[in-house]
Amino acid sequence: MAKLATIYIMGKEYKVPSTLTILQAIEASGFLFIRGCGCRGGFCGACSTVYRTKDSYKLKVALACQTKIEDGMFLAQIPFYPGNKATHNLSQIKPTTETLCALYPEIMRCISCGSCTKVCPQDIKVMDYVNAAIRGDYKKIAELSFDCIMCGLCATRCPAEIVQYNVALVARRIYGAHVMKKAQHVDKRLDQMKENQFASEIEELMKSSVDQLKERYTKRDMEK
Ligand code: FES
Repeated sequence: MAKLATIYIMGKEYKVPSTLTILQAIEASGFLFIRGCGCRGGFCGACSTVYRTKDSYKLKVALACQTKIEDGMFLAQIPFYPGNKATHNLSQIKPTTETLCALYPEIMRCISCGSCTKVCPQDIKVMDYVNAAIRGDYKKIAELSFDCIMCGLCATRCPAEIVQYNVALVARRIYGAHVMKKAQHVDKRLDQMKENQFASEIEELMKSSVDQLKERYTKRDMEK
């Protein structure tokens, strides 16, 4: 039997095995996740948690599925963060310096404190891409924010109230739609499909059972 640890969820005390992650510990305490839990593997960003450890005044944040509990931990989930999300029309928007500042003027309030970078569970240089957003450097934002899982923790700590992940999302969309070169091989393959060049292969797939499809999938040629 694993040793028991004492944790506090929304202020109430629970004893759970000390080897669990925060997510598992909350479930072991009798809670059922309706929101605030998704992939359980650190990819979906649904399980943002704010916590404090025993004898420390510091508030910390983490992904609940990726963080082990500690004895004396005080926990609260952030299943949704009500961050500002600007609407835009991707086909009409231009990749200029002014665009991001017009959609999210709050980026100009960045004081470069680095809180967003410090809390990011993906180790993304969030502050650097916000600075790139101010300069209108779409390539830089797209590259730096590529691993963002939209957990929202950066926005929870930002004194300028920037919703960094939404800024990065629109910047990546603009970059993909208007700046990045189109992949020639995708266009070529789409043309081939329109010309019905793969009709027999598609017919064969449609006739396959789920198990046959799974086998084909696991044995497929993987791009290096
Ligand atoms: S449950 Fe998906 S990142 Fe934690």
